[in-house]
Amino acid sequence: MAAASSAAHPAERPAKERLSIEVHFDPGESWSLPEDALRGLSARQKYIPSKYFYDERGSTLFAAICDLPEYYPTRTEHALLDRIAPEIMERSRPSDLVELGSGDARKTRSLLDVVGRNGKGTRYVPFDVSESMLRDTASSLLDEYPWLRVHGVVGDYECHLAEIPRGERKLVAFLGSTIGNFDTDRSRKFMRDLSSRLAPGDHFLLGTDLVKPRAVLEAAYNDTAGVTAEFNLNVLNVLNRELNADFDLDAFEHIAFWRSRESQIEMHLRAKSSLRVRVGKLGRTFEFLRGESILTEISRKYTCKSVSRLLRGAGLSPTGWFPSPDGNFALSLSTPSQLKFPGSGLKF
Ligand code: SAH
Ligand code: TRP
Repeated sequence: MAAASSAAHPAERPAKERLSIEVHFDPGESWSLPEDALRGLSARQKYIPSKYFYDERGSTLFAAICDLPEYYPTRTEHALLDRIAPEIMERSRPSDLVELGSGDARKTRSLLDVVGRNGKGTRYVPFDVSESMLRDTASSLLDEYPWLRVHGVVGDYECHLAEIPRGERKLVAFLGSTIGNFDTDRSRKFMRDLSSRLAPGDHFLLGTDLVKPRAVLEAAYNDTAGVTAEFNLNVLNVLNRELNADFDLDAFEHIAFWRSRESQIEMHLRAKSSLRVRVGKLGRTFEFLRGESILTEISRKYTCKSVSRLLRGAGLSPTGWFPSPDGNFALSLSTPSQLKFPGSGLKF
């Protein structure tokens, strides 16, 4: 890491000198879309991993979802973060603010504003699968914060967490309840991997959407303007383009519903009639019965207890629980436990 003390103050340097970006895979080339699609479309419950939502159009549509009146999580988390940012930054005092699935980083500004007021140098490390989104976000932030250095990582947070640069003291943020888009196995694996990369003194800030009445949850994923439907259906455009498939978008409909037993919203694309889809690049045809669906996303909802279990299970100690005043959403702060292997039988 460059020493900031003797060099010119970052504020004096042009934006491009404060930016570095590393790319850990080349979408379209080493993306495993062909294998993922073959596995997913051959399964009994067909599915497509949700990371393929976020092509350029998908990223734009997601930003529009965040502004929908029914989609309360973004504005709720934003207001909450605005309020607690000074405390989070005071407790974590990061040299690196790492953000997983950073997207347009609109909420991150609440944290950076606190750094700015205190006049400290912090590096921002956005980590996202979408290179175009990451580049746009980095360039806006560099303009808005003339003291900021940005080191972007384009990669998959389920494979490339080792690429997070070694900072002196890290605050890793994972906002938007994106953790809820993992099933139990994947969230455990992800949390353990992340936890193993945190050193004593590092902090983890996690945003989680909370369990609430079905009607509120289902409305958030079935907006009346149809933006979520468009976002969901757009994944078929990705398959058509990348795999030379012939999905007819009009032949599928977006559905989203609450499954209370699993405490999750599920999003599917349901075939309106029996049909066949040719996927040229796989040399395969897939059959759909009328009403058969592709599972495209789950979104788990949490309680204070289930978040605590998730964190502790990965060897993290929750040190702060910050629910929004309406109880709709919560942020939590945690640190690596001194005792990394609670099941080892060792007594400290
Ligand atoms: N943090 C933002 C965006 C959340 S949307 C918010 O709270 O509003 C999820 C973000 O994660 C998108 O920007 C998407 O491009 C990114 N993403 C999805 N899957 C990913 C993966 N496997 N690895 C890295 N980034 C991913
Ligand atoms: N992390 C967001 C959530 O679970 C992602 C999301 C919001 C989403 N709306 C969506 C994913 C619609 C797919 C479709 O709320």
